[in-house]
Amino acid sequence: MSLDIKFESISFDEAKTRLAAPEESAKPRTLVVYSGAELSFGETTKALLHEASAQISRAAAFSKFTGKSGTSLEILAPAGLPSVSRLLVLGIGSAQPEGTDKDKAKAFDEFLALGGQTAGKLGAGANAIVVYDLPLTVADAAAAAGQFALGAWLRSYKFEQYKTKKKKDDAEQEGPAEIALAVADAAAAKRAEGEAAGVAEGVLLARSLVNEPANVLTPVEFARRAAKLASLGVEVEILDEKALSELGMRALLGVGQGSAQESQVVVLRWNGGAPDAAPLAFIGKGVVFDSGGISIKPAASMEDMKGDMAGAAAVTGLLHALASRKAKANVIGVLGLVENMPSGEAQRPGDIVKSMSGQTIEIINTDAEGRLVLADALWYVKEQYKPAFMIDLATLTGAILVALGQEYAGLFSNNDELAQRLAKAGEATGEKLWRMPLGPAFDKLIDSRFADMKNTGGRHAGSITAAQFLQRFVEKTPWAHLDIAGTGMSSPAGDINQSWGSGWGVRLLDRLVRDYYEG
Ligand code: BES
Ligand code: MN
Ligand code: ZN
Repeated sequence: MSLDIKFESISFDEAKTRLAAPEESAKPRTLVVYSGAELSFGETTKALLHEASAQISRAAAFSKFTGKSGTSLEILAPAGLPSVSRLLVLGIGSAQPEGTDKDKAKAFDEFLALGGQTAGKLGAGANAIVVYDLPLTVADAAAAAGQFALGAWLRSYKFEQYKTKKKKDDAEQEGPAEIALAVADAAAAKRAEGEAAGVAEGVLLARSLVNEPANVLTPVEFARRAAKLASLGVEVEILDEKALSELGMRALLGVGQGSAQESQVVVLRWNGGAPDAAPLAFIGKGVVFDSGGISIKPAASMEDMKGDMAGAAAVTGLLHALASRKAKANVIGVLGLVENMPSGEAQRPGDIVKSMSGQTIEIINTDAEGRLVLADALWYVKEQYKPAFMIDLATLTGAILVALGQEYAGLFSNNDELAQRLAKAGEATGEKLWRMPLGPAFDKLIDSRFADMKNTGGRHAGSITAAQFLQRFVEKTPWAHLDIAGTGMSSPAGDINQSWGSGWGVRLLDRLVRDYYEG
């Protein structure tokens, strides 16, 4: 996954030197600066803009620009800056210095958004010097720069490999954008940007997997792409149908039974921690296409079900991010890859399957397939790796969209500490979680007349009964389930994402590992 912006951290002095020399690049240069409330600038910016200040005031008055957050002012051929073709002034309002943990998380998020807004205003292929010298709302300037770069990279991602006709202005802007970010501590910023690059690549990898159509991204092709992480030092193991059958994963295999594509389970291992430390395990639902099977879905928006592997995509992206930045933790990523299709060989409502755990499942609705895939994947991970915790990500239920929309993912957990850590990481990254309840009264709803359990729980509490089903396969292992049906795909465009597939979860879980489980 290549990033669309070449980033460079430079000092304020270096920025001055570059601006004083004539432009070398063939691309016209943009200077980006930031204004606080009431058109106010930092000292370095003030000095740089000295000769252009009258021009800025007139333009600001005309367009009623006051430096309010989210607004901007564009000036062509600014006075006194012969090496600059365009001056962009972005408003950031009156930034509040951080106080509480919540403020700190918010400040973090602000720099991510600022990077995204800046890249959005600059457009593709730009050549820019960005000067940020306002008071920082984040104590750690390097972290702010890292978030800024991350936001810019995420914003500039486009999924266009199936467009054969390039848009005119795309054709004109060949090559990646070049952004030099001038900050107080350039060396520290450089390190932070290096780490942010691995995270950005992980998110973009996840997005691309989600955006790929299912005729291209079959379970076997997904496994092949995940296997590329070997180049980062990730150990890769691929279990084919024969191996899965020997392990007794009949719940997972039953879902893929109607498809012409072979099911696969991929195990990714990153060993960055102490040799004897129990691994952290992440498990992703990877239904490359969910037609519903024999309980077939209605036609409207069925094409969206190519994204029903967003959980597996996030786990793949996470492993990419962790391995790129050489995280000091032992981590396992497991992908349950199947295609849910109707056919003469497909699983039927009424069928009873035996899961790897030995528990039997009555299939009521073949469209409740994600939990069947995860049941075997969770059990396998628990038995095989005895992990410190298991976190699964799954586009599991439409009901979570009814409850939480596209703003929050549903969080279900049997462990309060893990749940609280996840919620905090959610605040810090803006990938927010809302905890939902579990309990015996909900669990009863999936008892079956013919088998140990059934795969749906009726009309009520659909997301919860799905989570209860999963819980029957984790026993005492600390576990959290993230229902990302609302956040993983079909995403609204925003500061840091313009793509259908959001790559949701990569930043959240990278943050979780970083803040609580490294060294
Ligand atoms: N993949 C779907 C859930 C989904 C819906 C994801 C909308 C993204 C957007 C899942 O496999 C499913 O079909 N769930 C059913 C469960 C029901 C049959 C109990 C649902 O939510 O309707
Ligand atoms: Mn389904
Ligand atoms: Zn599904």
